[in-house]
Amino acid sequence: LLRAGELVAVPTETVYGLAANALEEGAVQRIYEVKGRPARNPIIVHVASRSMARYCSSGWNWQAEQLAHEFWPGPLTIVVAKSDLIPAVVTAGGPTVGIRWPLHPFIQQLINHCGFPIAAPSANLSNQLSPTTAKHVLRTLNGRIPLIVDGGASNVGIESTVVDLSADVVRVLRPGIISEWQIAAVLGITVLPRGVSEAMLKSPGLLEKHYSPRARLIITQWRDDSALLFLAQQTGVPPHKVAVIAYEKIPRNHSFVRVAVIPHDPPAYARAIYSELHLSDEAGAELILVESIPEGPEWEGIRDRLNRASAVS
Ligand code: TXA
Ligand code: MG
Repeated sequence: LLRAGELVAVPTETVYGLAANALEEGAVQRIYEVKGRPARNPIIVHVASRSMARYCSSGWNWQAEQLAHEFWPGPLTIVVAKSDLIPAVVTAGGPTVGIRWPLHPFIQQLINHCGFPIAAPSANLSNQLSPTTAKHVLRTLNGRIPLIVDGGASNVGIESTVVDLSADVVRVLRPGIISEWQIAAVLGITVLPRGVSEAMLKSPGLLEKHYSPRARLIITQWRDDSALLFLAQQTGVPPHKVAVIAYEKIPRNHSFVRVAVIPHDPPAYARAIYSELHLSDEAGAELILVESIPEGPEWEGIRDRLNRASAVS
């Protein structure tokens, strides 16, 4: 199907991807159509070796080599100057390309078997929640693509960290499970500069409202069951339309539509969060109350996604 220019949903360790032959303009164009994705939002190119990454890039430098050596295959996307082989449609007309060597064995074998790099955004409709299971993909893309490959639940659970190496300063455009701190440590830099406004222009995935469940989402804290109920009541949404995601102050007696107990270490939290949001939507929740998470670099990717999910358009 990929050789024929079709789209296929495939598993990766971060989230499911909507795959097309990255070297074929028409196939990549279809991705934008199926997702309803704005034409200005570039698509990540997936490779299965560092040599394949070098051939997609014309600016593969020592920093890229170091980060690839340390974190690939894995949840890190490296933005570098693109090579002429990559059609403009992949990079939304821009001079740079985001490249990632994913860890999931299926997509690695797929890329090796095809012999071409694979362009793939998350396999959801634009601005909606990313899928971490084949079932999540089926729910929104059923009938729009010829095949969804089920490779089990995504092990990382949130999208890759995107780091920009194409400018004078190294910058994380989208946080993820690989933290800014880890990247800085590998490159021998102490801290990476903050430049949110510029980063937002470079990576539309950083636009505020994104990665959203259908229900409204509020990140908050409560002392006990009655404080939680009071909080819910203040929003005006009846309890049977409220879902709760908690890890410490778990409500005991309640009339909420759904209460999830989510693990309290960052990797397990990341693995579970999108599934819990999908389940809250499925349960018919109008409001999701998420217990606020701790500070710290291990939480930055998760915090970013929750903040975006809670942003009011
Ligand atoms: O984990 C992931 O990254 C997943 C899996 C499928 O690999 N993919 C994913 O793709 O999340 P997508 O399209 O949903 O998000 C890609 C993000 C967007 O925010 C996009 O703007 C940014 O990466 N991006 C892609 N290419 C870029 C480039 N050349 N420069 C700046 N940002 C780029
Ligand atoms: Mg996405």
